[in-house]
Amino acid sequence: MKFSKQTARLQTLCDNPRMDEIPDRPRSRRLASLRPALKFLRPYLPQVTLASLALVLTAGVTLSIGQGMRLVIDQGLTAGSAAILEQTVGLFALLMVVLTVGTFVRFYYVSWIGERVSADIRLAVFDHIIRLHPGFFEENAPTEIQSRITTDTTLLQTVIGSSVSIALRNLLMFIGGIVLLFVTDAKLSLVVVASVPFVVAPVILFGRRVRDLSRSSQDTLADVGSYVGEALRHIKVVQSFNHEPVDQSIFSGRVERAFAVAARRITSRALLIALVMLIVMSAIATMLWIGGRDVLSGSLTPGELAAFIFYAFMVAGSVGAISEVYADLQRAAGATERLMELLAARSLLAEPATPALLSPTGRGQLSFEDVAFVYPGRPDQRVLADIRFTIEPGEMVALVGPSGAGKSTLFDLVQRFHDPIEGAVRLDGVDLRTLRLADVRARIGYVPQESSLFSGTIRDNLVYGRLDASPAQLREALELAGAQTFVAELPHGLDTRIGEGGVGLSGGQKQRLAIARALLKKPELLLLDEATSALDAESEEHIRATVDELKGRCTILVIAHRLSTVRQADRILVLQAGRLVASGTHASLVEENELYARFSRIQFGREPVTEGDHAVA
Ligand SMILES: Nc1ncnc2c1ncn2[C@@H]1O[C@H](COP(=O)(O)OP(=O)(O)OP(=O)(O)O)[C@@H](O)[C@H]1O
Ligand SMILES: [Mg+2]
Repeated sequence: MKFSKQTARLQTLCDNPRMDEIPDRPRSRRLASLRPALKFLRPYLPQVTLASLALVLTAGVTLSIGQGMRLVIDQGLTAGSAAILEQTVGLFALLMVVLTVGTFVRFYYVSWIGERVSADIRLAVFDHIIRLHPGFFEENAPTEIQSRITTDTTLLQTVIGSSVSIALRNLLMFIGGIVLLFVTDAKLSLVVVASVPFVVAPVILFGRRVRDLSRSSQDTLADVGSYVGEALRHIKVVQSFNHEPVDQSIFSGRVERAFAVAARRITSRALLIALVMLIVMSAIATMLWIGGRDVLSGSLTPGELAAFIFYAFMVAGSVGAISEVYADLQRAAGATERLMELLAARSLLAEPATPALLSPTGRGQLSFEDVAFVYPGRPDQRVLADIRFTIEPGEMVALVGPSGAGKSTLFDLVQRFHDPIEGAVRLDGVDLRTLRLADVRARIGYVPQESSLFSGTIRDNLVYGRLDASPAQLREALELAGAQTFVAELPHGLDTRIGEGGVGLSGGQKQRLAIARALLKKPELLLLDEATSALDAESEEHIRATVDELKGRCTILVIAHRLSTVRQADRILVLQAGRLVASGTHASLVEENELYARFSRIQFGREPVTEGDHAVA
C-alpha cells in the first residue's frame, strides 16, 4: 500500500502524543488515597448523617426479612394459624413501608452528596489551576487536565454517590447476615464460612486482571477521543493533504485496539461471574442437602432453613457486591490522587505576601535589568541573556529580530508569565515579583501573535478585560482598531456570535478585534506581537495612525516585521539569538550597525523607503 510506510511512522508518532509523555505516577490502588476527598464531605455533615442513618436502617430491615420469613413459615404455615399469619404479614408490611422510606432517603442523600462533592471538587480544581503559572500547562497537557476535571470527577461522583453506599450497605449486610446465620444454625453456617474463600479467591485473582484491562481500555478510549478531536479541529489540513486514508487507518487501529482490550476484559469477567455462580450454587446445594436432612430429622424447622438460605444468599450477594465496587473504589482512589495532585500544584509565580504598590500616576516605564531566561523544558538553551534596556513612558519601541530570537518570550516576561532566572523586570521602577500579578496585568494591553478570540459574541470578546465598558468606549476602541466598519456590517453587529478561536472571522478581522480588546483596557503599556501581520495595506495604515495617536499617551512595545512600523518607532531594539545586539532609530542603525543594515536589507529589502508606501515585507 502506498501509504503503509508513512502510516507506520505516523502511527508511532501519533501513539506518543504529548499527553502520554506526562509522567503519570503509577495510579494508586490504596484506598487511603480517597481520604483527601473526605475533606469535601465535611460541609455536608447533616446530609451524611441522614444518609448513614437511612443506610443502617434499611440494612437492618432487610436483615429482619429473614426472621419474618421464619415466623411466617413456622408459626403461620406449619402451625396452621391464620391469626399469626395475618399478624406476621402485617408486621412484614410495616417493615416494607420503613424500607421504602429508608431507601428513598438513603438513595436521595447519597446521590445528592455524590453530585455535590464532585461539583465542589470540580470548582476547586478549576479555581486553582486557572491561576497557575502558564508554564504548568506546557509540562502538563491541557487535554490531560481537562480529562481529569471531567472524567475523574465524574468517577468520584459515581463512587461517592453510589459505590461507597453499596459497599457500606453490603458490609453491614455481610456482618449481620453472618451473625444471623450462626444464630439460626451454627453447623450449617460452617458450610457458608468454608465456601467464602472459594468465592473470594477467584474474585481477587480475576478481579485484578479485569481491573488492569479496564484501565487500559479506558486509556485506549481516551486515545480514540483525542485523535478525533485533533483531526476535526484541523479538518481543512486533513483534507487538503488527502490525509483521510491515513487517518482512517490510524483511527481504525486505535478503535480495534480498544475493542481487543475490551474483549479480553469481557472474557475474564464472564469467567469470573460463571465461576462465582458455580461456587455459590454448590454451597447452597450443600446447605439444602445438609439442612434438608436436619429438617427431616426434626432438628431444624422449615422456617429456619428458609431463613438460613435467605441469609446465605444475602451474605454471598454482599460479598459479590463488595468485590464489584471494590474495583470502583480503587479507581476512585486513583482519580482522587490525580485531582489532589492538581490541587497541590503550586504556581511558580508566587504572589508577594505584602505586595508593593504601583504609583497611580505611573505612566508605564518598562525596564529589563540584565535579564536571562531559560524555558524549564530546555534548561540548556538561554532563550534570553543579558537583556538590559529601559523604555520611557510614552515611548514607542519596535522589537525586531529573526524568528526564534526570543521576542515573544520577552513579552511573556513583561507580563510575568515567567520569572527571569537572572536579573529583574521592572514596571515604573518596581520589580514585577514584588507586585500583585493582577496589578501588573491591569496596566498592560496585550495583542498576542496568534489569534485568541473566544466563542461568544463580538461584544463578549471586546469587553474581555473591561466588563463595565460603556457603548461609547466600545465604539472608540473599535474605531481606533479600524474594526468599526466590518463589525457594523456583520449580521448582528456587536452581538454577532463567533466560534472558538474566532471561527467566522477573517484573519485580519480577528487581529483588529484583538487590538480593540487591548485598547479598551486603556493600558499604560501596550504590547503588540506582530499585530498587523494579517492586515491589508489600508487597515495597517489605520493601525499605524492609531499608534501615532497613542504615542506619548502610553508606552508601546511592538514586535515588528515591517519597515513601516519600524520607521515609526522612536527606537528599535534588535534581538538576535536571545541577545540585544543593537538599539537606535532605523536611520541611525542602517548607518552605524552593520548587522542591522544587513538584517534590514534582508527583511525590508524590497520595501520602498518613501513615507506612506507600504509594500508587503
Ligand atoms: N514553551 C517553550 N518551551 C521551550 N522553548 C520554547 C518555548 N517557546 C519558545 N521556545 C523557544 O524559545 C525561542 C524563542 O521563541 P520566541 O517565541 O520567543 O521567538 P520569537 O522571536 O517570538 O519568534 P517569531 O518571530 O517566530 O515569533 C525559540 O527557540 C523557541 O523554540
Ligand atoms: Mg513570536
